[in-house]
Amino acid sequence: MEYRRSALVTGAAQGIGKAIAERLRADGLAVTIADLPSSAPLLVELAAALGGPDTVLSVAVDVSDPAQVDNAVQAHVDQFGGLDVMVANAGIAITAPLVETTVQQWRRTMAVNLFVVCQCVHTELGVVYVAPARRRL
Ligand SMILES: NC(=O)c1ccc[n+]([C@@H]2O[C@H](COP(=O)([O-])OP(=O)(O)OC[C@H]3O[C@@H](n4cnc5c(N)ncnc54)[C@H](O)[C@@H]3O)[C@@H](O)[C@H]2O)c1
Repeated sequence: MEYRRSALVTGAAQGIGKAIAERLRADGLAVTIADLPSSAPLLVELAAALGGPDTVLSVAVDVSDPAQVDNAVQAHVDQFGGLDVMVANAGIAITAPLVETTVQQWRRTMAVNLFVVCQCVHTELGVVYVAPARRRL
């Protein structure tokens, strides 16, 4: 069977992540769309619009938890046999005035927006390097 290139997009339920997932599918890649459990209804809707189980996998994940990122990548590889593109798009933004924000909010923002990008790439590299036939980097 011919190998189909594939991508995992975090924060895919809406906004930029959704648009990236739609574009990647239009370009012929199989796609895992990943987002918070609270976004499950949006993921179900998007998965139905993008294709069937051969080309689309929907995963509930909180990317601030490294173990959940690992599980999402593993589910993707189990489904599609490799991982070519990791789009670490999920992110949050504090919209309140600086004086009204808390240290906890900033820690959460850094954890989701910065640390998670490193985690996603680290996990993807692990997958790529244990599967040399799939190396694309
Ligand atoms: N829209 C902009 O102008 C803009 C500008 C600069 C950077 N960004 C960044 O681009 C990315 C996408 O922006 P957007 O406007 O589409 O945002 P959005 O809020 O519309 O979508 C973000 C998605 O990420 C998901 N998400 C948030 N935290 C998550 C977590 N812990 N685990 C899994 N999923 C999580 C949300 O559920 C949501 O579906 C974000 O990282 C954002 O910070 C956006």
